Amino acid sequence: MPPHTFKSKYLIIFFLISLLLFLFTSLKITLTTTIPNPPPSSDIPGIKIRPGYTSYELYINRQLNKTLNPKLRKIWATRDWDRKIRVFAGFFEDLKQKNLLSNSSKSLCVGARMGQEVEALRRVGVSDSVGIDLVPSPPLVVKGDFHRQPFDDGSFDFEFSNVFDHALYPEKFVGEIERTLRPGGVCVLHVALSTRSDKYSANDLLGVEPLKKLFKRSELVHVRTVDGFGLDTEVVFRKKQVTSGGP
Ligand SMILES: *[C@@H]1O[C@H](CO)[C@@H](O)[C@H](O)[C@H]1NC(C)=O
Ligand SMILES: *[C@@H]1O[C@H](CO)[C@@H](O)[C@H](O)[C@H]1NC(C)=O
Repeated sequence: MPPHTFKSKYLIIFFLISLLLFLFTSLKITLTTTIPNPPPSSDIPGIKIRPGYTSYELYINRQLNKTLNPKLRKIWATRDWDRKIRVFAGFFEDLKQKNLLSNSSKSLCVGARMGQEVEALRRVGVSDSVGIDLVPSPPLVVKGDFHRQPFDDGSFDFEFSNVFDHALYPEKFVGEIERTLRPGGVCVLHVALSTRSDKYSANDLLGVEPLKKLFKRSELVHVRTVDGFGLDTEVVFRKKQVTSGGP
């Protein structure tokens, strides 16, 4: 065969290899740009972060979608209002009898929606109570993200929450509670252990042990079964008086 054909054969092979390399690299770029960031993972065994929250913005929007849902808000403000306050007031009376809460406790409800828990606290005599939620609901609930509470360290004697399952970063949720509680302060969580929580949940909690791991600066006070609007377990922690050295 003539030398020039031989040469062009190599040229074609060279061209094909270049083309393949080019296609491969551009394909790789497309792949890496279309695969979303992995969801935040939880290092704590027994807490499963639900997949699909590819950004914090998406997560917040989804939470807002529930909080701002006009149908839900109407139910919360009418049919649910008194019933919930009565049930919460029962829980709080019980905590008062166990000396975990008193009329003079400065109290915070974390993820308080329209403030039924706050109203219940006030009705049982805990007058210095407020709630936070992504959407404020004056005068009971101020605007605040529970992953970053808008309060100074040691601000509260008592914190209550029934929205642990909505935390995308459970360690931050708990860390913020422990930060804003004073030493000796009490945190009461209502969680779902045997039931599955709602479609707006960001995590699934499989037991009390993971909570004990998260509450690094507190001691477990009690665990008991409750009937709290689909949440079946009350877990109470008390922040230690002295947080000994270490980070
Ligand atoms: C929020 O809810 C509306 C319907 O009420 C729905 O169309 C929309 O897709 C939802 N957005 C998110 C981020 O879930
Ligand atoms: C706490 O407040 C309630 C309701 O206002 C009242 O009935 C009760 O006597 C108070 N308890 C104490 C110990 O002051």
